[in-house]
Amino acid sequence: MLFGIITLFPEMFNAVTHYGVVGKSVRNGIISVKLWNPREFSRNSYKKVDDYPYGGGAGMLMSSQPLKEAITAAQNTLGEGSKVIYLSPQGKRLNHKYVCKLAQNEKNLILVCGRYQGIDERIIQMKINEEWSIGDYVLSGGELAAMVFIDTIARVLPGTLNNQESKRSNSFFKNRLNYPHYTRPEVFEGMRVPAILLSGNHGQISRWRLKQSLGRTWLKRPDLLKKLNLSKEEKILLTE
Ligand code: ADE
Repeated sequence: MLFGIITLFPEMFNAVTHYGVVGKSVRNGIISVKLWNPREFSRNSYKKVDDYPYGGGAGMLMSSQPLKEAITAAQNTLGEGSKVIYLSPQGKRLNHKYVCKLAQNEKNLILVCGRYQGIDERIIQMKINEEWSIGDYVLSGGELAAMVFIDTIARVLPGTLNNQESKRSNSFFKNRLNYPHYTRPEVFEGMRVPAILLSGNHGQISRWRLKQSLGRTWLKRPDLLKKLNLSKEEKILLTE
């Protein structure tokens, strides 16, 4: 998938394109990230990219002309049909289901990162297809939210995670929390790894993990249990 990012701070995106599994998916060509900086489209001699809001009040808005031209430039490269998403605390709240939908259905995606108090309403009407938020708090700009989109979408695209990693990460979205994990040493500062994990009995280990996972979900996120769907194998494991 090709991500077109509209941002006044393109360097920030190194954080997501150079590290870990998402960095690897960039190197392997599973995703690519292209950046457009509205500042480069500013016709102002000082390359100004902010302006006062009509009606007064605190703060500035992003100037419309450079922003619109940056989005148009991205559309010209990624294709007119590419979905344009504006990251804003007023958008719909992002969830795993929507991440998977985007990963499956979109070839390219344009993410518009706001700064200051936001963008002119007419740019939203003219250019934006959807508005999405990553949570009920206000970030100082849309960049971190756009990186959340890139990271979460890249992770679910085939080829980013190996089989085992992707099975494990799926567990949360089977509407349950993960079971606890342990690595070496067997005793760490006096605390032992649960004996079952050292037993070599894979059936019993799976059963223990399932019980831990369901117990944790019940304690920490009981709301998820309403949507819980146990597989046939899991039901058998629990009754063994
Ligand atoms: N920009 C500022 N706050 C945001 C949020 N919570 N989600 C998405 N974009 C934002």
